Amino acid sequence: MQRGGNSPLNREERLMSKHERIAGTMELPTPTEQPNIFPLSWPAKTKKLEDIWDSSLREAWDPKKLPWQTLDLSKYTWEQREAIAYWWTILSVFDASAPPVFAAALIKTYEAHEEEAVRRCFFSVTRDEQNHEQLCGTAITRLLEHPDVLTYVPKTEIGRKVQKNAHWLYYNGSRYWEGYKTAVPKYSLAVLFSSFLMGEIAAATIFHQMAAHCVEPVFKEAFRNVGRDEGRHMAICMSLMERDYPKLDLADRPLITKQIRAGFLFLSGVLFEPPEAFWDIPADFIANQREAEAIARAAGFHIPEYEVKKDNWRNAMLNLKGVLDKFDIPFPAIPEVGITGEEIRDVDMEDIIPVF
Ligand SMILES: [Fe+2]
Ligand SMILES: [Fe+2]
Repeated sequence: MQRGGNSPLNREERLMSKHERIAGTMELPTPTEQPNIFPLSWPAKTKKLEDIWDSSLREAWDPKKLPWQTLDLSKYTWEQREAIAYWWTILSVFDASAPPVFAAALIKTYEAHEEEAVRRCFFSVTRDEQNHEQLCGTAITRLLEHPDVLTYVPKTEIGRKVQKNAHWLYYNGSRYWEGYKTAVPKYSLAVLFSSFLMGEIAAATIFHQMAAHCVEPVFKEAFRNVGRDEGRHMAICMSLMERDYPKLDLADRPLITKQIRAGFLFLSGVLFEPPEAFWDIPADFIANQREAEAIARAAGFHIPEYEVKKDNWRNAMLNLKGVLDKFDIPFPAIPEVGITGEEIRDVDMEDIIPVF
């Protein structure tokens, strides 16, 4: 840059001056350092992913347009409202962390210069999860007449008990996010996909059930939509595993086994009951949660009973085992639901990737 006298550089010029100019010295620039976030290529390989993207557009829905006007809250007592809002709170711990979690995964697909349809599919998951979060927020805000679970002033004894639980869920969820941020750059997309699949199988299971048995029309329709979204997310993970696992790096196998065990412990928080060895929760947490669930259930808000949850969770794990068996990836022991397998110890929040 030619510059007369001593006139000071402005800020932009100073920044540019750190860059050593090469354009005058060569025909083409030196190879760009990777990962360079933006691709100038749009490779298409996996047709299935194109189909899933197309269906994500066809099946798009708007949480605002659900039949909220049919929800007559005067039919419910405050105990019931607070108990139902608590279930949405548990869900929020998973679904409100999902948009940033998938946004980070989306960035990773760009860095890896993934097939274009993969990039779009992760974009669609991020969008869907945003909808799920919005749904949780709308349900809670209407039920509590307050938009914030932690600053809400409970009206009943059960409301007070579950608000204490909510504080502990929030605390544990924040530990997950810290772990996730360090885990994402560490693991290959192949490892990430199995962790995601874990969450999606779990999510699809619970939402289909809630949709089938919930009494309130607006919740029924919401669960039907969310369940369909989760089914697509599951299909995305399956297609990617089918594409990549036949050539999986052997070193990745034990990592995946460990992730599945970690995912079971983490997602048990919403699908089953949070295991105390892993979730840092007070001694009365489970009793409070069971009490709230019984109240919500009696009000027509279908939360499966303990034994049914356990059966569902076991079946979801067996489905996942079926997928991993195909690729000779050892499955972890899950004694909580009676599944034998490889013993995995020392699972910590820092290891957790699964999302809903
Ligand atoms: Fe979700
Ligand atoms: Fe999902």
